[in-house]
Amino acid sequence: MNKNYIGGKWVAAHTGATFPCVNPATEEVLAELPNSDGVDVDRAVQAAAAAFDSWRKFPAPKRGEILFEAGRLLKERKEQLARRMTEEMGKVLAEARGDVQEAIDMTFYVAGEGRRLVGQVRPSELPNKACFVTRDPIGVVAAITPWNFPMAIPSWKLMPALVAGNSVVFKPASDTPLSACALVEILEEAGIPPGVLNLVHGSGAVAGHALATHPTISLVSFTGSTEAGRQIGMDGARDLKRVSLELGGKNAIIVLADADLDLALDGILWSAFGTSGQRCTAASRVIVEHSAEEPLLERLIPRTRQLRLGNGLEATTDVGPLINQARREAVHAYVGVGQAEGARLATGGSPWGDRGWFYQPTIFTAVRPDARIAQEEIFGPVISVIPAASIEQAVAINNHTPYGLSTSIYTRDVDKAFRALRDITTGVVYVNAGTIGAEVHLPFGGTRGTGNGHREGGDTALDVFTEWKTCYVDYSGQLQRAQMAEQPSTAGEEPMTRE
Ligand code: UN1
Repeated sequence: MNKNYIGGKWVAAHTGATFPCVNPATEEVLAELPNSDGVDVDRAVQAAAAAFDSWRKFPAPKRGEILFEAGRLLKERKEQLARRMTEEMGKVLAEARGDVQEAIDMTFYVAGEGRRLVGQVRPSELPNKACFVTRDPIGVVAAITPWNFPMAIPSWKLMPALVAGNSVVFKPASDTPLSACALVEILEEAGIPPGVLNLVHGSGAVAGHALATHPTISLVSFTGSTEAGRQIGMDGARDLKRVSLELGGKNAIIVLADADLDLALDGILWSAFGTSGQRCTAASRVIVEHSAEEPLLERLIPRTRQLRLGNGLEATTDVGPLINQARREAVHAYVGVGQAEGARLATGGSPWGDRGWFYQPTIFTAVRPDARIAQEEIFGPVISVIPAASIEQAVAINNHTPYGLSTSIYTRDVDKAFRALRDITTGVVYVNAGTIGAEVHLPFGGTRGTGNGHREGGDTALDVFTEWKTCYVDYSGQLQRAQMAEQPSTAGEEPMTRE
């Protein structure tokens, strides 16, 4: 539909303004989308607020059934959705299929929550009194999502928000509006009632800001840059909104001397250059024990040079373009920083091709752990190889960044693997696998500057999108005072006898 979706209708921005969606491999304009402002956002929030009460009372298993139907439609349309995604944001088709699959998995996983929404039951300290805890929806949720996972990340937010009975205003990244439209169309077709889910396109600075600061929004769930996340967190604190942030990463693969180097090599190539390094889980540091450094680099540098850049729709392509020109300039600027810092550029380091925003897979070696290229998120196909003297030093280097999302360690020594699992301080840790590839039914999120303590996915997703309500039911027929009764009384109680 390529429009906003407000109160069950596909509409243009109230000003009629639009912005283009551009294929980053070809620079072709794919569509024009509404360039929304605060007025459009307000209409969407009002529609969501009006729909909230009936949606929260709609039985949760029935909400889940709508999501099961959405999952079925996503599965049925997987191929066309994946192709559209590759055109829209560049990732190679196999990865775009994976992105849609992650949305399918999340949708089915969370749909089942419609029949669970597990609460708690506790005994009372007083007789004839029941105590239980339910999950209530929070209200109108703002879901603000990035372009690097145009289907998966929106599904992490929309599906649990909806199954829990919240209404939603969804503001996707302006680089990937088409996948967002397709996802909303599917949810509409599956039976989400008008107003329960609304879609507003536009920039983060205008539409995103208006949404995150709207007084009727109770919860902002945001995935994106640390800079924007910090602002959303500060704005949310002022209005006492719940804010769930999923921000940057500076993830490392640790390769110990005893590792299977071929296995580590595959993990590095996939984690560093998959999605052209544009994942918050991407490996941008390789911390390698001294004796493994030379044999690893002997394999890694030629394999990196062999990676084929190109349009992600072509089967021969290994690495697609970056999302846009600004991102390519930012990546290239970091390569300049690395050179100025004295790191050795082993391969890559330049833009590639005469059309599209391609960048060569790039490796720096002999990088100091505190160098800017080893500390700051680059979000592109650039890795820093950092030598370490021991597992202890490798883990210390790993932990010492402003971020804390994902770490991987390659070793064949089970003692070392468990020591690393104990001492690594990121939110996700892999042993003998790369830093990417989180599964939807496990908690996902990070420590330090990666977020603010929430976890998406897994059972923990519901903790973000629900409010606990503690319910006490006193059926004693008399005033009972908690903490004040010396002896539990059963006075006045008729003994239960068989007739
Ligand atoms: C992200 O890059 O923001 O674990 C999310 C992974 C994917 C999700 C990445 N399942 O790499």
